Amino acid sequence: ISSLLGYYLIITPRTTDPHPLPTNTKFLSPPFSQKVLAWFDINGRKNLPWQLNKTPYTVWVSEIMLQQTQVKTVIPYYQAFMQRFPDVLSLANAEQDEVLHHWTGLGYYARARNLQKAAQIIRDVYHASFPEQIEQLIALPGIGRSTAGAILSLACGQHHSILDGNVKRVLARYFAVEGWTGNKKVETDLWQYADGLTPKNRTADYTQAMMDMGATLCTRSKPQCDMCPVQTDCLAFVQGRQTELPHKKPKKAIPVKSTVMLIPMWQKQLLIYKRPPTGLWGGLWGFHEVEHEAQIVERASSLGFEDMQQQTLSPFRHTFSHFHLDIQPVLLHLKQQPVAQVMEDTQMWYDLTQPQNVGLAAPTKKLFSTIDTSF
Ligand code: ADE
Repeated sequence: ISSLLGYYLIITPRTTDPHPLPTNTKFLSPPFSQKVLAWFDINGRKNLPWQLNKTPYTVWVSEIMLQQTQVKTVIPYYQAFMQRFPDVLSLANAEQDEVLHHWTGLGYYARARNLQKAAQIIRDVYHASFPEQIEQLIALPGIGRSTAGAILSLACGQHHSILDGNVKRVLARYFAVEGWTGNKKVETDLWQYADGLTPKNRTADYTQAMMDMGATLCTRSKPQCDMCPVQTDCLAFVQGRQTELPHKKPKKAIPVKSTVMLIPMWQKQLLIYKRPPTGLWGGLWGFHEVEHEAQIVERASSLGFEDMQQQTLSPFRHTFSHFHLDIQPVLLHLKQQPVAQVMEDTQMWYDLTQPQNVGLAAPTKKLFSTIDTSF
């Protein structure tokens, strides 16, 4: 009977197939998130300090530190920060100087100031317990949609997508998105892709996986497409446009500014002052400045220094995201012990032999070490 049946099946032509196979091969392969998660299970990073004992607070601090800084740089800062500020309350109640001190060297100090401001809001408005609704997080200083999504997905397993620089690059390549990813319209499109791909299950792992893929495989230059779990569906790969995409930011020349930093020195002690809370290096300690060298004597005199010897040190450039700053440091070797009138609480003699716990602007720190080793 079976051979007869087989014969029947073979020779009987069917005009319509009630269960057609999909012709689209994408339909046959597992969805994007499944491939990404399978890759993550084997290759993802799972033992970074902020991945152990995750709470919204620990994830928040690490995400803010990692915003413009690489993992290997962040690790020791994160560990020291958590030692000193183990919870929202300790951060909220700390002196700003001490918070900035723990940030010295990480740059982008607005991140640290916002971190503490947000901690104070959490203390005052949310009774020190970390809010867990995305709108509440986005309303806090320094937390945007992607950071909020990262905190709530990584720490609470909530279903939110992220779109940080790494993920933007992955998606811009995968979907061959044209245009600079900082452009509003491009960003809106990328959020739609991100939302569409983020799975409801294992959202935390998926979030981490996308970050890891962006950081380790789908890198800006020389991406490792051969190792990529979504290589065959990636439009940039298929079109051979991995190095072109995502498109670079349209270039604008950034302006060059200059400044002269005055460094009064008395026996390995240097005069610094606390900068105003907002603006360049807000709240950090730095050297007094003048625009031109011709103003040095007058400014030194207003600080109470008359008898001194000027020494011009090597100039150097410090580059911010929006301008270059050419710095001319001038050491003022004081010939007499400085008088007490310069000692105010916004001004101090920094003792190179006994470094103090204060937040320092990067060039200040650099000059401290130059002077410490040269004089
Ligand atoms: N970059 C931003 N967030 C990160 C994370 N959680 N792990 C590794 N790199 C990151």
